[in-house]
Amino acid sequence: MDTLEELNRRGFVEESIDPTLDLFAEIEKLKKEKNAIILAHYYQEPDIQDVADYLGDSLGLSQEAAKTDADIIVFAGVHFMAETAKILSPKKTVLLPDVKAGCSLADSCPPHLFKKFKEKYPDHLVITYVNCTAELKAMSDIVCTSTNAVKIVESLPKEQKIIFGPDKNLGAWVSKQTGRDMVLWNGACMVHEIFSREKITKLKQRHPNAKFIAHPECEEAVLQMADYIGSTTGLLNYSINNPAQEFIVATESGIIHQMEKANPLKTFIPAPPNNNCACNDCPYMKRNTLEKLYLCLKNGTPEVTVPEHIIEAARKPIERMLEISARYGL
Ligand code: 13P
Ligand code: SF4
Repeated sequence: MDTLEELNRRGFVEESIDPTLDLFAEIEKLKKEKNAIILAHYYQEPDIQDVADYLGDSLGLSQEAAKTDADIIVFAGVHFMAETAKILSPKKTVLLPDVKAGCSLADSCPPHLFKKFKEKYPDHLVITYVNCTAELKAMSDIVCTSTNAVKIVESLPKEQKIIFGPDKNLGAWVSKQTGRDMVLWNGACMVHEIFSREKITKLKQRHPNAKFIAHPECEEAVLQMADYIGSTTGLLNYSINNPAQEFIVATESGIIHQMEKANPLKTFIPAPPNNNCACNDCPYMKRNTLEKLYLCLKNGTPEVTVPEHIIEAARKPIERMLEISARYGL
C-alpha cells in the first residue's frame, strides 16, 4: 500500500490553504526562492495566465521549455505538455499543478493500438500532433502543433507517404491545406467536437458583422463556416489584426481572456456547444487552479517524469519539429 508521503508526492492528497494568503505574492516569492518558471497555456484560468512567466500555444511552450535556465518548470497545462517539457529539459524538475490534468485527444490514441496501426503502413512517415503521450511521440518521426503542421507536411517530399495522428480533424484540415493524402488516426478532442453548426448559424445571423474563428481541432462541418482557422496564437493575432468588432470563437474559452485584454473594445462570443452546457471549458485544463499552482511550487509535487528510453526516442521527433519551425520563422 502507498504511504501518505508517496501519495502526496504523486499529488493525490489535497492540502488546505489559509484563505487569507495573497497567492500572487506567495507564488512570486516561491518562484524566486526556487529558481522556478511558470509556463502556462492559453486555456488556463485567467489568474494562472496572469501569474505565468510565459503564456503561449503548444509550440511556444515547447520552445520555451527547451531554452529555459530555471531549475524547476511548473507547467500550467496538461500532462502531455509537461511530458514534452521533461523530454526537452530532462535534467530539470517538471511539475504539473494537478496530476489528473490529462487530455481526451491523447487518450483517444492508446500507444499499443497505434503501434499495430503503424505496422500496417511500413513505408509511411509518422507525424504526430503534440497532443499525445510521450510513448506515442517515441514512435513518431516528426511531432507537430497546430501552428506548424501545414509547414511540416509541406517540408516533406511530395511522394512521401504519411500517417497523421491522433487528431483526425486537424489531420483532415492539414490534408486539405496541403493537398496531401494522409492516413489518419481516428482521434479527436472532446472540447472541439462539441460545437453546434446549427447554433453557430443562428448566432451568426444575430451578429452579421461578427467574424467566426475556429481552431483546426474542430470538425470539418464547423471549419467550413469559419472566416479564419488557426492555432490559439493564430486566433489571438487575428482578433488583434482584423478590424471587426465582434468575434465568435470556436475553441476552449480560456483564450478569450487574452483576446479581451488585447482588444478591450471588441466583443468575443464563445461558439455554442451542441448541448445545454454554456461553457467550452476543457475539464482537464481547468483542473489546475491558482491554489494548486501555489501548493505545487511550495511542495515540489506532483512531478512529471518520463522513462529514460522514452525521453531518448521522443526527443528526436520533437527536435525535428523545432528545427523545421525555426527554418520557417515560426
Ligand atoms: P494550440 O494552443 O497549440 O493551438 O493547442 C490547442 C490545444 O488543444 C491544446 O490542448
Ligand atoms: Fe486535450 Fe482538447 Fe483539452 Fe486540448 S482542449 S487539452 S486537446 S481535451
